[in-house]
Amino acid sequence: MNKNKIALVTGGTSGIGKEIVKELLNKGCIVITCYHSNEEAAKETEKEFNNNNLSILKYDVSIEEEVIKMFDIIKEKYGKLDYLVNCAGTFIDNYIKDFDINDFKKVLDINLLGKVMCTKYAYSIMSNGGAIVNISSHLGVVPCAESSAYCAASAGIINFTKATALEYADKMIRANSICPAFTPTPLSLRGWEQEEIDKKLKETPLGRFATPKDTAKLCVFLLSDDASFITGENIWINGGRI
Ligand SMILES: NC(=O)c1ccc[n+]([C@@H]2O[C@H](COP(=O)([O-])OP(=O)(O)OC[C@H]3O[C@@H](n4cnc5c(N)ncnc54)[C@H](OP(=O)(O)O)[C@@H]3O)[C@@H](O)[C@H]2O)c1
Repeated sequence: MNKNKIALVTGGTSGIGKEIVKELLNKGCIVITCYHSNEEAAKETEKEFNNNNLSILKYDVSIEEEVIKMFDIIKEKYGKLDYLVNCAGTFIDNYIKDFDINDFKKVLDINLLGKVMCTKYAYSIMSNGGAIVNISSHLGVVPCAESSAYCAASAGIINFTKATALEYADKMIRANSICPAFTPTPLSLRGWEQEEIDKKLKETPLGRFATPKDTAKLCVFLLSDDASFITGENIWINGGRI
């Protein structure tokens, strides 16, 4: 990966996104990230990385005006974008019959439309030969009770990525998605009971959970020129879980 590439990683102040930010900074990229509301996590991230190549912005990816503003700022400050990693996400669980439809919409707005809008507004400023990685989920392929909104958004993003690969090939922009299995982060630890977590571990042939680093390493590979003929692909990171 060449130094000084400009990368936007949404949701980079926690969990998987934060590790992707770290890997990209280590590769010499200039990284912009955004978060939703956790100021403390944003400050901690800034302090921990202590890197002039990192800008942390507070923009909600589910609100179109905010996404537009964020891309305006990137255009104004950097003039272009080389890499987009759509990672920001949330998790609200409930049974379908009990789901408050506003909660269901919220998951779709952040986890699916948030990625769609960032992809839309990235196009005009993305360099020829740029790359997009969308973080989907194991639950985008394997259904799970009590998680229908998250399953639907995650499944949608896989095929949206494939459609992006078709359309954005006119600028030689590649688009791929990653489906990590359960990865201990604030999002997942909030969402699952310990008993369910133990069950997931038992179902994992490689005998451990995914780490944010597992996903970050794959993400960096997919963004890099080493993956220059890979587009429209979805890759699982699940330790052999099916
Ligand atoms: N953890 C897992 O088991 C797992 C497995 C498969 C896939 N994933 C996917 O990986 C991605 C990251 O998950 P994670 O586990 O790392 O979650 P996390 O630790 O909770 O981090 C989520 C990040 O996204 C940001 N965010 C949330 N809503 C946002 C919004 N509307 N606008 C802008 N930023 C927003 C958060 O900012 P604030 O903290 O300020 O809200 C935070 O920086 C998600 O797309 C998730 O679906 C996670």
